[in-house]
Amino acid sequence: MGKIKLSPSMMCADFLNLQRELDLFQQNEIDFLHIDIMDGHYVPNLTLGIDFCRSMKSYSPIPLDIHLMVENVDFFVERFCEFEGSWVSFHPETTWHPVRTIEVIKKRNCRAGIAIDTGVPIEQFKELYPLVDFVLIMTVTPGFAGQKLLPFCLDKIKQLKDYFNENNIRAEIEVDGNVSWESIPQMVENGATMLVNGSSSIFDKAYKRKEAIDRVRKMLEVYEKA
Ligand code: DX5
Ligand code: ZN
Repeated sequence: MGKIKLSPSMMCADFLNLQRELDLFQQNEIDFLHIDIMDGHYVPNLTLGIDFCRSMKSYSPIPLDIHLMVENVDFFVERFCEFEGSWVSFHPETTWHPVRTIEVIKKRNCRAGIAIDTGVPIEQFKELYPLVDFVLIMTVTPGFAGQKLLPFCLDKIKQLKDYFNENNIRAEIEVDGNVSWESIPQMVENGATMLVNGSSSIFDKAYKRKEAIDRVRKMLEVYEKA
């Protein structure tokens, strides 16, 4: 199956010790920094912003995995694509023309992704799958960390994987929301190749950060060897 990529959700990070977080992530070959951008309109929350991303980029070489949960995505996508090499995902419902938004992201030398909300069937945006580098399957309704997984979303990962196999689509499948010790096996068995690790795995308060990273890696070994 190959290496499953880890993308810790930075809205869950210890904001008073970000350098320590980033140093540890780099020492442990963490693949991405998941950056949740929320505008208080598309989702009822405000989280990280462009200056946070600039600080991350100025200090760490780890690529950004920017998840845009914003109403006016075509305005914001131009700004967040300043971080070349980032993986930038958006909810297709937030633009009239998702194909054009994908083209903008790619033109700015970023990887393009679309996020499939919990209530959206995977068929709804199937025309976009051949155009993107990754698809983000939401397993919680977007807007907050610390929510409980919606079990019916687990099967959507498998439906997407099966659709990709049947149609020879090579996009990565990223899963976002309550990626926990209990849910990781099912998510990976269903086809996840990238995990957003938030409050119920890497940032689980019951563990030291390094212990939590090691525990995730240990859990994934059996799948990566398969
Ligand atoms: C929710 C965000 C997620 C969230 C994950 O809208 O997209 O990235 O931070 O946090 P947990 O893992 O706690 O659900
Ligand atoms: Zn996210």
